[in-house]
Amino acid sequence: MDLDRRFPAISDLAARARRRIPHFVWEFLDSGTGGENTLRRNREKLDEIRLAQPVLLGEVAPDLETAFLGQRWSVPFGIAPVGMSGLVWPDAERLLARLARAQDLPYCLSTVAAQPPETVGPLTGGRGWFQLYPPRDARIRADMLARVGASGFDTLVLTVDVPVASRRERQTRGGLTQPPKLTPRLAWQVAACPAWALGMARHGMPRMRLIDSYADTRTALPSTAHAGYLLRTAPDWDYLDELRREWPGKLIVKGVLRGEDARRLREAGVDAVWVSNHAGRQFDAAPASIEALPAVRAAVGPEFPLIADSGICGGLDILRAIALGADFVMLGRAWLYGLGALGARGAAHVADILRADMIANMGQMALGRPAEVRDRRL
Ligand SMILES: Cc1cc2nc3c(=O)[nH]c(=O)nc-3n(C[C@H](O)[C@H](O)[C@H](O)COP(=O)(O)O)c2cc1C
Repeated sequence: MDLDRRFPAISDLAARARRRIPHFVWEFLDSGTGGENTLRRNREKLDEIRLAQPVLLGEVAPDLETAFLGQRWSVPFGIAPVGMSGLVWPDAERLLARLARAQDLPYCLSTVAAQPPETVGPLTGGRGWFQLYPPRDARIRADMLARVGASGFDTLVLTVDVPVASRRERQTRGGLTQPPKLTPRLAWQVAACPAWALGMARHGMPRMRLIDSYADTRTALPSTAHAGYLLRTAPDWDYLDELRREWPGKLIVKGVLRGEDARRLREAGVDAVWVSNHAGRQFDAAPASIEALPAVRAAVGPEFPLIADSGICGGLDILRAIALGADFVMLGRAWLYGLGALGARGAAHVADILRADMIANMGQMALGRPAEVRDRRL
């Protein structure tokens, strides 16, 4: 099948995924919080960005290879952490980690994924990223970090934009509870999605396996209740200092929207800042990530490594984010749309779409390298 003919854009994959993933799971993946203003704004503000096309520059041969934090990647984009991605598509974490390695792009595993670091780290070739929701207890944190490092992750991503749980009304309306409970309504939705249901039957009901492994150390709470106890503290600057001392690898802080915070993070010794509003899932009055990016870039200076995400739907969006100050761009939902549509080859097709769209748009702007797009800002 010629995938590009049937699914030329990520939205085509999303449309098919929507039919193949039970509705309550789709709502978990696809929704924002509140009135979904931030979710929409991410898209609107990306669409507003115009870029210049100088003419008569001759032929260019776009090259996407990108150096970032001491590594070379084949492209300037990667896979953002998605909690419980194993619920969205069976075995998503391992499928995406393998894809990332095969395509030479970074994969970031979430603390609250359905796989623990030990089953995913070895698939990343020693250059995986691990996203940390900060454990409250220092001994649990030390143990987690040791496990993460020993599993082959060289980069830690501390997420700071989830100080408390958000309301996610659409997700609630969809019927997803914690822990998931299979009501007749949900069972009907599952029955309508046989590929998903068969995969789940084969891999077992997903659960937060890393969190589960600490479920008995402090309390007798069951796993999902324990996650609330164990994690989701609102860390402070002292916590960051401790983490910086404890983690010997690269440290990125994710979920930053203010220049002032980014500058202080740089001074605190983090290796990169990740500009994100969590795809509009946390705070419905947040600026679009892409709007926040220029001020963050201005605050940290031209050389400091910056990542951006939230609302990226194609190669042109990646170029827009780079134009406004990002060095690297991550996507969350797009990869799950690919998996939901066509399994592993759907996720691989997402990478193909992004690559082809970057190259087509770089050709329009006569760019040999993605970073040159900074000169094309209008
Ligand atoms: C279903 C879902 C679960 C997520 N879980 C996490 C998580 O566990 N940790 C985290 O740092 N970010 C999480 N995120 C945010 C993503 O890492 C990323 O910031 C966001 O999805 C980027 O926007 P995009 O989906 O528009 O590409 C999640 C996003 C989604 C859609």
